[in-house]
Amino acid sequence: MRVLGLCGSLRRDSYNRRLLAAASRELPESVAFRIFDDLAKIPPYSEDIDARQTPAVVQTLRTAIATSSAILIATPEYNASMPGLLKNAIDWASRPYPDHVLRSKPVAVVGASTGAFGAILAQADLRRVLKALGAQVLEAELPVSRAHEAFLLDGRLADPQLRSQLAIMVEDLLGVASVDAVEEFA
Ligand code: FNR
Repeated sequence: MRVLGLCGSLRRDSYNRRLLAAASRELPESVAFRIFDDLAKIPPYSEDIDARQTPAVVQTLRTAIATSSAILIATPEYNASMPGLLKNAIDWASRPYPDHVLRSKPVAVVGASTGAFGAILAQADLRRVLKALGAQVLEAELPVSRAHEAFLLDGRLADPQLRSQLAIMVEDLLGVASVDAVEEFA
């Protein structure tokens, strides 16, 4: 099984990237995890460009999503929503419509912010957008607030309750993905 990570922040020391790394520690060894690192190279969405020739980096993103069993997205909150970078990538991934790569894809959303609410608005918006696209989105949220204080030196979340919430989310995500795999096989 393969899980693809997407991080909505380009910041070098991103807490959301750390959150993806913390989540990946909860995956069994048999599951391959990788982060799609080229979100910054994706141009602003244009139907004209998409119709003429899909950019190679977009094709790579679509293939990475299509060939993954599940997606884990860590989003910061920018002005009470997800960063434009992430929405732009989702807009590209949502075409060609309706048979795009996010349809029915198991997705879990987590988020970290330095504020008191742990990017809950961004996570809620992101889940809403993904659901509208027909992805199988986990209802659970994982708000990591005061992110600058939330991680141990070894990269794990300091709060044991958050840590177990994250482990449960990862387990649930793999559960949905493995049901899909069985159905595909049947
Ligand atoms: C923020 N930040 C922020 N935080 C929050 O809780 N609610 C918000 O609406 C915003 N808005 C916002 C806008 C912009 C443009 C920036 C740059 C930042 C703070 C932000 O969540 C915080 O810097 C996180 O640490 C960013 O995530 P990474 O880069 O650490 O993953």
